[in-house]
Amino acid sequence: MTLTQHDIDQEIAAEHAAYEKRVADGGPIEHHPRRDYAPYRSSLLRHPKQPLVPIDVAQDPELVELASPAFGERDITEIDNDLTRQHTGEPIGERITVSGRLLDRAGRPIRGQLVEIWQANSAGRYAHQREQHDAPLDPNFTGVGRTLTDADGFYRFTTIQPGPYPWRNHVNAWRPAHIHFSVFGTAFTQRLVTQMYFPNDPLFAYDPILQSVTDDAARQRLVATYDHSLSVPEFSLGYHWDIVLDGPNATWMEEGR
Ligand SMILES: [Fe+2]
Repeated sequence: MTLTQHDIDQEIAAEHAAYEKRVADGGPIEHHPRRDYAPYRSSLLRHPKQPLVPIDVAQDPELVELASPAFGERDITEIDNDLTRQHTGEPIGERITVSGRLLDRAGRPIRGQLVEIWQANSAGRYAHQREQHDAPLDPNFTGVGRTLTDADGFYRFTTIQPGPYPWRNHVNAWRPAHIHFSVFGTAFTQRLVTQMYFPNDPLFAYDPILQSVTDDAARQRLVATYDHSLSVPEFSLGYHWDIVLDGPNATWMEEGR
């Protein structure tokens, strides 16, 4: 059966209504999407079907990860957070500055943390072998950056406004423009991954990935705000986006916790 946008819209509406009923019946606010969120079709195949297996931490072989080397100051070069300067020429598109803070639940800054981003170019095309979207590659744009948060928890990237792109969840499925973010933590087992969106994107309502966060306030926290003070004169437009690791204002992360 061909799955249309209308079909997906109805499923999204049903999921939102079911969530609102759960909350009205006294259920908890759900900051993270359910793993079996049907409108995002491939999540049905990927999410765990069995309950998590409790692990005796004293016996956990991955415990060694907590003490193993992670990334630090010496692994980052000066232009790693400037995606417009990683090639000989300038990438095509609208230059943007994206900055914000990495915070814990109490609003305290998380310092020295590796923040990584990856994104499509201005035409909505990823520079990746398995990319299938027939839009032009930009030889001057790889779409990958990283940085460490500073003493106040701030990160900052200079990049190009990514374009929306089609995917094959259903007929005429388009992802709103977004930047993928990873927060590394202090060990390889702690990495968290999420996505940042741009304000007022007309595709929000149609996207089952964004809509898999059924709580309106939690979903809104994935959307950056335009910040004129971050705009660089004669150069770029500024967007502010904070990442909160846990607590009532937590940013949604793909694997949940
Ligand atoms: Fe993406």
